[in-house]
Parts: sequence; structure tokens; C-alpha cells
Amino acid sequence: MKHLIDPFDLSKEEIDEIVALGEDIVAHRDRYSGACKGKKLATLFYEPSTRTRLSFTSAMMELGGNVIGFSDARNTSVSKGETIEDTTRVISCFADIIAMRHPIEGAPLNATRVSTIPVINAGDGSHAHPTQTLTDLLTIKRELGRLDNFTIGFCGDLKFGRTVHSLIKALSRYENVKVVLIAPEELELPAYMKYEVCDRYGIDYKEVDNMESVMGELDVLYMTRVQKERFLDEAEFERVKDSFVLDKAKMSLAKDSMVVLHPLPRVNEILKEVDDDPRAAYFRQVENGKFVRMALIVKLLEWAKQDPSVHWMVPSDAIRSGYSCPNRKCISNVENVDPLFRMDDDGVCHCIYCESKARSL
Ligand code: CP
Repeated sequence: MKHLIDPFDLSKEEIDEIVALGEDIVAHRDRYSGACKGKKLATLFYEPSTRTRLSFTSAMMELGGNVIGFSDARNTSVSKGETIEDTTRVISCFADIIAMRHPIEGAPLNATRVSTIPVINAGDGSHAHPTQTLTDLLTIKRELGRLDNFTIGFCGDLKFGRTVHSLIKALSRYENVKVVLIAPEELELPAYMKYEVCDRYGIDYKEVDNMESVMGELDVLYMTRVQKERFLDEAEFERVKDSFVLDKAKMSLAKDSMVVLHPLPRVNEILKEVDDDPRAAYFRQVENGKFVRMALIVKLLEWAKQDPSVHWMVPSDAIRSGYSCPNRKCISNVENVDPLFRMDDDGVCHCIYCESKARSL
């Protein structure tokens, strides 16, 4: 059985299939109105969400299916100490597919150990958000007409922004995608993303600390919120915060065909004055999220029918001892799960659940 925990769980062909199905759903919505009749989606949201949870709900309803779940785990037996594995076993008895959001990194991966139905990672901590990635890809495809041969600038919080990490991983599957990383030093892309993803998959990337110098090069600008709460020094935040606010003046430096994306919610990093610019695609992006989640649900249920066997998404050669994960927000440090690690090509050991660099014991 196939789950979607990380963008790398999908081959380029599978991503293309889902995006193409998303486009077909946009063109022929009525054809899909009964595609999931009699099926149930469980939305298990342990962390707040507007777009992801409600787009999954709306997607399943448009497919003719039903939705169960929770948006506040305090109202469930989680508050009595039930583990993710036990909750997943229980939900597997009630539903056909799970969408799980969790503040703990690796929680959805841990769920696949016991789940008898497909699990979708709807965002785990700062780690990954693969369905936002599918949303972004469908939007780029619809706006630019292609998923290769373009330059994308990621701006803002590239350290904690799970949507950025996931989209870069997926773009590594495509030809000639150039990446410009626009961030203050404090919020630069994590080392594992630069070396294990960009370098390993040959992504052409550069790092800059201001928007103005690169606006004219970009085909896509992917904005994210600069998270004040992550700065240790407030004076440092004050110094950099306005460099990463998109306004009309900065838009005047961009190509007429550039597309502005943002996973949302935004706070003040895109001024309202940009919203009416035809290049501002972030609300169109939200709607694409529903269409692509419809496509994903249809595909995962189809694949589960072809191969219903329980499949834990962990490599058989995972390392089981000699290391620990330093990330306090990793599932291996929060619940009673076996810590698991993998060695990369450069001999660096990483936690399987959250991808942090492991500590040798
Ligand atoms: N983009 C996104 O994940 O939004 P929500 O947190 O509202 O789901």
C-alpha cells in the first residue's frame, strides 16, 4: 500500500499523474462527483489548519465520499494518553484513508507502521508538507504551463518552512529548475536540504539576502512568513524584516509573467496592495489545493486497491542502534517508538523520522 509522507515517496511519473488528474478534474468536475461514493476520509488534525483540513474535506465531498475526524485532539482520547499508533489502528477500522497533521515530526511516518489504509502527511512540524507541494506544482503547471525550465525564488523563513523543503524536493525531479534562496542568515535553508537534496540531485541554487537584486530573474516567487518568534535577537529581526515584504515597488522589478505563490496564511510579508496584481496567484493556489487533493485521494485509493498490504515506509536496512536524534520535536523523542537512522552517501547519519543529523552515542 502506498502512503504519502514525503514528496520523495512519489516518482516523477506519479507526481505527473496526480497533477494531470488534477487538471482533468478542473476541466471536468462533474465526471468525478461519484468517484469516492461510499468511501470515508479521516482528517486527524492535531495542529491548527484552515486550508489543508477544509480543502481535504471539500475534496472528499466533491468526490461523493464522507469525512470523519477531529480538528482539536484535546477532544479525543489523545488527551488520555493514546499513542499515534493506537489512534491510527482505531481509525483504520472506521475509514478508508487518513490525512494527518501533527506538530511532532515523523508522526505520520510512525502511523504507517500499523495503518491498514493509506496515510497522507498533511504537515508534520517543520519537516514536510507534501500535499502543499502538490498544490504548488498544480499551480505552477496551470500558471506557467510547465514544471521544468524555470527559476523560482524562495523568500523568507527557509529554515522552518516545511512547504519550502517539500517543494524543493519535488522540483529536484524536474529538468533545469533554478532555485534562488532569499533569506536572512538566521533563517537559511537547513544544511541537509542544501547538501542532501540540492547538491545530490544537481539543483542549481544560489543564496542572496535581499529581494531587489534577483526579482528580475524569477519566473516564480514563493513567499513565506518571516517568523519573528524564531529570532533570538529582536534587533536582528527588526533589521531584516522589511527586506522580505513584497510590495508594489518590488513587483515593478519583476517580469510581467512572474507568478507569486504563498502557502498562506500570510501576516504582513505580502502587502494587500499586491493582491490585485494579476501575477498574485496565492488565492488561485488555494483552490488548486482542493483539486489536487481530489486527485491524490482518487490515486491513493486506486493504488491501495491494487496493493492492499500494510507497508511501513521505512527502509529495511535502517540503522537501529549507536545513534540518537537531537530533535526534541521528533516522534522518536516524544512517543515510545524505536529510533531509526540511515547513513547518507557522505557517511552522515540522519534520523529517519525527521531527517535531523543524528548524534553518535
Ligand atoms: N498552507 C497551509 O498548510 O495552510 P493551513 O495551515 O491553513 O492548512
